[in-house]
Amino acid sequence: MRNLQIQLARQPEGAPKVDDFRAAAADMPNVRPGTFLTRSIALSLDPYMRGAIAGRHMGHTRLNQGDVIYGRCVAEVMESKHAGYAAGDIVVLESGWQQFYLSDGGARDQVRKVVRRTDIPLSAHVGVLGMPGLTAFAGVEKLANPALGSTFVVTAAAGPVGGTAGQLAKAKGCRVVGIAGSDEKCRIVTAEYGFDACINYKHADWPARLKAGCPDGIDTYFDNVGGEVLDQIVTQLNLRGKVVMCGLMSQYNRIADGASHGHNLGTFVSKRAQLLGLVVYDYADKMTEFHKAAIPLMRAGRLSIREDRVEGLENAPALFVKLIAGDNTGKALVGIAPERA
Ligand SMILES: NC(=O)c1ccc[n+]([C@@H]2O[C@H](COP(=O)([O-])OP(=O)(O)OC[C@H]3O[C@@H](n4cnc5c(N)ncnc54)[C@H](OP(=O)(O)O)[C@@H]3O)[C@@H](O)[C@H]2O)c1
Repeated sequence: MRNLQIQLARQPEGAPKVDDFRAAAADMPNVRPGTFLTRSIALSLDPYMRGAIAGRHMGHTRLNQGDVIYGRCVAEVMESKHAGYAAGDIVVLESGWQQFYLSDGGARDQVRKVVRRTDIPLSAHVGVLGMPGLTAFAGVEKLANPALGSTFVVTAAAGPVGGTAGQLAKAKGCRVVGIAGSDEKCRIVTAEYGFDACINYKHADWPARLKAGCPDGIDTYFDNVGGEVLDQIVTQLNLRGKVVMCGLMSQYNRIADGASHGHNLGTFVSKRAQLLGLVVYDYADKMTEFHKAAIPLMRAGRLSIREDRVEGLENAPALFVKLIAGDNTGKALVGIAPERA
């Protein structure tokens, strides 16, 4: 048996391309005392990987040609010589883009055990119940804590962070308005995620549509994109409104060139805006608390996120290119092996 890996072929310049990556078959690792071998079930593709590959994301060193791409999988322990893990355990861990991974259970691998539930697919543990979901929970519950009846706006609303944030705010009794990049995404956001409205920012008159969708102004803006969209939305923020600074999707390919978007900070000052910077790693110990809130909502049909899923590790580069271009609809995910061997 060989271990299929996706490695870096060359550092992407600007937007990543499929041939920046290459597939390779490596030897299967040997299970030594103190280690365990996992079989990857599903790989999460996330926007931070663009910066991580280039060594621009917290704790990630720049990858070289031939290095396995960073990434988190939900996986099954196949064989273990580690006291903390047994064959059959389900874990989420930083295994990279590969079929099999040998872990020592150390901090670098960020291993987290997962309870197998018959009504929840394991892939949810790298999506709505994983790091993206926890990000949304931290922003909504721990930072903004929006009031009942207040207006909550979120960008990248069809994705796992934005979609979960909006549904958590809805569960708190907010009026929730999404912003997304196509009419189809907006349909999903309202029809499937239950937002009150969704505005497609690709229409030229979207600021006017947003104003109509938020007749009482915006109390909380959960920002996933930065750039000009952030500038526009802040003009509609109520006095002392909150902005959760979560992501900069419009900037990730440009930061490499040293380019940054200059904001008119005067608008933030005149609005007395409260800017709340969010880093999900600060909330790693809140996963159980998050699941206590999220799983009942999922079971009640009040929290769901679409998966934008491909099967087969060799298809990961194409989906990653799609994600970074903003063309994904829902959680970008690669199925690697069936949930049960
Ligand atoms: N702070 C943290 O700790 C933390 C943790 C996790 C994620 N994040 C951030 O949260 C945001 C959402 O993450 P996610 O995993 O849920 O991603 P996602 O929504 O699945 O994908 C990103 C979305 O961003 C939108 N987008 C807007 N402007 C874009 C542009 N110029 N180029 C490309 N895409 C653009 C696209 O949706 P539309 O077509 O709808 O615009 C795209 O589908 C990202 O910025 C991510 O980096 C932050």
